[in-house]
Parts: sequence; C-alpha cells; structure tokens
Amino acid sequence: MNQQAGKFSRLGFVLSATGAAVGLGNIWKFPYITGVYGGGAFVMVYLVTILLIGASLLIAEMLIGKRGQKDCVSSFEELAPPDRKGWKYAGFMLFTGLVIMTFYSVVIGWIFYYMYLAIAGLPTTIESAKGTFDALYAHAPFLQIFFHLISVLFVAYVLLGGIKKGIEKTNLILIPFLLFILLGLLVYALNFDGFAKAVSFMFAPDFSKLSAEAIIRAVGHSFFTLSIGIGSILTYAAALPKHSNIYKAGLMVAFMDTLIALIAGLVIFSFLFQFGGTPDKGPGLVFVSLPVIFAKLGTLGQGIAFIFFVAMAVAGLTSAISLVEPAVMYLEDRLGWVRKKAVLWSSLLYFLIGVFVIFSISDGFKAPFTFGTKSLFDVLEFAVDSFLMPLGGFLIAIFVGYVLKREVVESELLGHMGNTVFKIWYFSIRFIAPLAVLFLAYNALKV
Ligand code: PFF
Repeated sequence: MNQQAGKFSRLGFVLSATGAAVGLGNIWKFPYITGVYGGGAFVMVYLVTILLIGASLLIAEMLIGKRGQKDCVSSFEELAPPDRKGWKYAGFMLFTGLVIMTFYSVVIGWIFYYMYLAIAGLPTTIESAKGTFDALYAHAPFLQIFFHLISVLFVAYVLLGGIKKGIEKTNLILIPFLLFILLGLLVYALNFDGFAKAVSFMFAPDFSKLSAEAIIRAVGHSFFTLSIGIGSILTYAAALPKHSNIYKAGLMVAFMDTLIALIAGLVIFSFLFQFGGTPDKGPGLVFVSLPVIFAKLGTLGQGIAFIFFVAMAVAGLTSAISLVEPAVMYLEDRLGWVRKKAVLWSSLLYFLIGVFVIFSISDGFKAPFTFGTKSLFDVLEFAVDSFLMPLGGFLIAIFVGYVLKREVVESELLGHMGNTVFKIWYFSIRFIAPLAVLFLAYNALKV
C-alpha cells in the first residue's frame, strides 16, 4: 500500500468524499437542469434516484476500495476470484477522471475569471452579460489557458501532499468553509419574497412537466453528482482505516451532496425570482443571469457575487482533486513511480488536452478540434456523461452484485445496516442499478 500517501481519519474521509461529490455538478449543473426541466417533478425524480440507485452504488464503490486497500486496478484484481482476474481491467475506469478534468478544470478557470469580474465590475444587462461570457468562452483562449493553469497548479499542489497532508487537510478546511458560505447566502435569501417562489418551484411537483428526457437527465446527473463510476470514491476508500462504517459514510456523503445541491438551487432561484430572472435559460444561468442580478445590488451585490464564485471554485477544486488522485495512486502503486512524478505527468496530460478543449470552442482555433458539428469539449462531455460514467457504475454494480462472494459483501455491511436494509441494498445493486444504467446507455445512443 501506498506509504507516502497515508490514511484518512473518519471525519477526513467523509469530508473528502463530500468534497469529491460536491462540485460544479451541484452549484452550476443541478440548478440549471432543474430550471430547464421545470422544477419540482424533476427534483423529485432526482431525489428518488439518489436514494434508490446513487447511494447504493456509492456504498458499493466504497466497499471495493475499502476491501481492496489498493489503487483502483489492483483493488479489482485483488478481490476478483482467481479465475476472473480479468476484472482488473475494470479498474481502468480511473482514467475517466483525467478525461473529465480536461474540461472540468477549464470551467473552474471561468469561475476564477468571474471572481475577478465580481471585483472589477459585473455586466449590468442580460445582453452585455451574454457578451461578456461569449468574449471569454469563444474569443479569449489564452486567458482561459491562464486560468486553467492556475486550477491545474492548485490541484497538483494539494496532491503532492498525499492523502493526509494534502487531500484530507484541504477538505477539512474547505468543506466547512463552503457550507458556511452557502448557509450564509441561504439566510440572506430567506428575506426575499422570491424565496417562497423558489421553494414552490423546486418542491411542488407538476408531473405534467416531466418528460422522458427529464428522467434520463435526472438519472444521469445522480451518477455525476455523486462521483460514481470512475474510481474516485474507490481510491479514497482504499485509504480508510480498517473498521470504518462505509454504510454510514456513504449515506452521509449522499446526504451532504443532496443538501448542498438543494441549498444552491434555493439560493440561485431566490435571487432569480426576486429580481425578475427566468430559471430556464440553461448553462448560462450562473454565468449570465446571476451576474446581472448581483450587479443590480451595487457594491453589496459585488461582494455577494465574489463570495458565490469563491464557493463555486472551492466546490470545483475539491472535486478536481478527487478526479486526479486515482491516476496518481495507480502510477505510484502499479508502476512504482514516486508521487511527484505521478502528479507531474498526470497534470501535464490533462492540462495539455485541456488546452485543445479550449481551442475547440475558440473562434479562429476550433477547426482542427471539431468533429462534425461537435467541439472536442462537447465530445468529451458527452462521452463522460453518457458512456464512461454509466459504464463504470455498471461494472461496479456487477462486480459487487455478482462477482464478489455474498459473504464478503455481508461481512462488510451486515453489521452496520441490519438484515432488511441489506436486502434492499443488495437488490438495488444486483437489479435496479444495472438496469438503470442500461436504460441510460440505450437512451444516450438514441440521441
Ligand atoms: N461530483 C462532481 C460534481 O458534481 O461536480 C463531479 C465529479 C467529481 C464527477 C469527481 C466524478 C468524480 F469522480
């Protein structure tokens, strides 16, 4: 086992896994897809999916890591029965993290830029806000590369410290800080009339608005938001102390992740309804609609905007750390590299591909990085959402549900969850989760 990296404390693990789960998916994506798909009914489907499928898979992935005690590939290999060692190839799901980072880090870079704008001056009309975002997105590749690099360097610095002094320490500070900011914003939003509207928009379901597409997005997002199927949670769980309760930890992480998504949604929609925005504008929600609202509030609004973007950056960076660690641990454990070398090469790899991703959306540079009508950015995001993460989730469900002996699984969980809950969980892992993934994959192929 990886000596330099160390082991988590229990709190350190829960906060670090929460840091992995809580990311741009919660603060940027969840509110905007909730807006696009009409609110309440979508949120309901999302909550049910998290409970029935997401949390079960999260616990299953933790189980593999905790039993295996090794990097992602070696953990699968170690636990597979002697005649099925080919399962080690499932461990290569760890590379999905680097793929995600090629665009995730670029988006974190945009947030840094908006932190700067919050101080320097925010756009005051929707038209100018669109212009500001477009100027960054499509016309400023080198500025984007600069901010992308800052994100890469931050993540690399934390990873160099290993599990204990890098990852755990960072999350022990940043996750409470993130909660503090979001709760502060929520308390502030409680004073608005818009708050009641936000509550009813998010929690009063109108099932006539629920489309098949909305259901697919809700299921897909439940995987993404919990960081399932790419070996991140597995790799963190490999550094758990022997007697940890992964059932409790899994529920806690799923709960925190959901709570933070709901708080972020409530805050954003309260501002939006209070100041006359519309919720269904898509990905531009936090980069176009919100800045205009903050700008209306003058200096106070600038302060709130800055704090809001800091929260988003923190959420993104703590997830980013978990996206790269699986590759680093693999290179250390399997190939015997020292941590420094592993961090350097993995960072360099996704940094460079990230530069191509930026070119793929920049006017004047995009031609070599466009495939048909899709930019490299779109292609990678689509591959992750519709293929790589569901595949990872599927492999985890099959491995824990069918390949691992039932006694092994029971020995890890039965003492913590009791018989009935265990049966429900095991049923979910063997039947519901794999079927949900097949449903996702089938629908993704149709699009
Ligand atoms: N869960 C993160 C989010 O919601 O933004 C994204 C993510 C992080 C996905 C880590 C996968 C992962 F392993």
